[in-house]
Amino acid sequence: MSAIKLRENLWSVGVLNPALRVFDIVMESKYGTSYNAYLLTGEKNVLIETVHTDYFDEYLDNIRQVIPVEDVDYLIMNHNEPDHSGSVAKLMAICPKLEIIATKAGKKHLQDITNLDLPCRTVAAGDTLDLGNRVLEFIPSPMLHWADSMFTWDKAGKTLFTCDFLGAHFCEPTMLDKNIHDKAAYEGEFAYYYAGIFGPFKPSVLAGLDKMPADVELVCPSHGPCLTETIGKAKELYRTWSTPAPKTQRTAFVVYASAYGCTRTLAEAAAKALEGEGYAVTTADVTVVPYAECVKLAHEADVLLVGSPTINRAAPKAVWDVLTSIDPINLKGKAAGAFGAYGWSGEAAPMLHTFLKGLRYAAPEAPFRVLFTPTQADLDAMAEYAKSVAALCTVPVDAPKTEGGKWVCALCGYIYDPAEGDPAHGVAPGTPWEQVPSSWSCPLCGVDKDMFKKAE
Ligand code: FEO
Repeated sequence: MSAIKLRENLWSVGVLNPALRVFDIVMESKYGTSYNAYLLTGEKNVLIETVHTDYFDEYLDNIRQVIPVEDVDYLIMNHNEPDHSGSVAKLMAICPKLEIIATKAGKKHLQDITNLDLPCRTVAAGDTLDLGNRVLEFIPSPMLHWADSMFTWDKAGKTLFTCDFLGAHFCEPTMLDKNIHDKAAYEGEFAYYYAGIFGPFKPSVLAGLDKMPADVELVCPSHGPCLTETIGKAKELYRTWSTPAPKTQRTAFVVYASAYGCTRTLAEAAAKALEGEGYAVTTADVTVVPYAECVKLAHEADVLLVGSPTINRAAPKAVWDVLTSIDPINLKGKAAGAFGAYGWSGEAAPMLHTFLKGLRYAAPEAPFRVLFTPTQADLDAMAEYAKSVAALCTVPVDAPKTEGGKWVCALCGYIYDPAEGDPAHGVAPGTPWEQVPSSWSCPLCGVDKDMFKKAE
């Protein structure tokens, strides 16, 4: 793909990768993807992001179609996952005077990714960059979808650069939504991308939507086409998908595999017990219910019970496929347990149990296993086991309680207690959260203040 002029002084200099079918190992990309990057030209020239390292040469050619690459003054990194930062080191080797701009977390990621001490200016909410003919404003948007994420706002051009936010794995050669031929395919990929990348970060998505300037006319994401005529619809969809439904009942998902029905019988006993505890229960045999549906149900469940027989001294692949697709970001308060019937050695349930604990579900001390066919006593014990797992669940049914005045870092778990303050970093004991300076950052992991949430 060549450089494409999007607006006066704004160029797309990214790269299409239409042949890609799996992105980042786990994400299907039916229509390939694009590694978008943008070049703003004027009194100062600014690159917004780089591309996957494999496509550096094409990226460089695109820049050179517009200006000599040595004339670039700044490189803004809205997000530093290697699909965007992968060419930073190569670019810096050509342009050592280039100044990089990123959030504090972004700078750290970039150093760790490149193993280089790069010239990087860190920016916070409201900081600006005066380019002479325009002023760029930086809008940190943590957890969209990394701690380092931010938007860059070009007010003069009414253009918002959002990196992954509002993106899609989709190749549109003109880079504009209005030119997409197969709109249904794009809309499907837009939804799939949201679910995979932003579904675990719904509160952050709502916060990000609220930070978007109202008069934006062009959204430039870092995957897929730029948004013009679809901005309103895209925002509306993100808001709908991210707004939690009222929660009146806890949910449980009992997912299992069963070769001869023994583990299925246990699953049925567990489901019945959980229903008795007031849970809305769904059960699924992983060999019958589609994988994607099982993963969705696992993500939604407050209590997860995973059952499996033992085959080849392990749980079968279909069970692992579901478990290893669970994003652990939103498991706070959730509980899980493992169970299974077996005939010889019975390793599956302990393996699953260990895995679930590794995801940081609340879990009982041990899994529940039965040798061959469950007796009524075994089924009763299975029911008790399911109840013991449910007893560990602390997911609130109504809106989360926010009393207490403590705030917790969403990234590392550090708790800010107003009674203690953070004297080592200039915050006196007794300082309420609202009076903690916006420049203060987490003393453990360094993320900005707006990465904190009210402790329950
Ligand atoms: Fe497209 Fe989070 O990187």
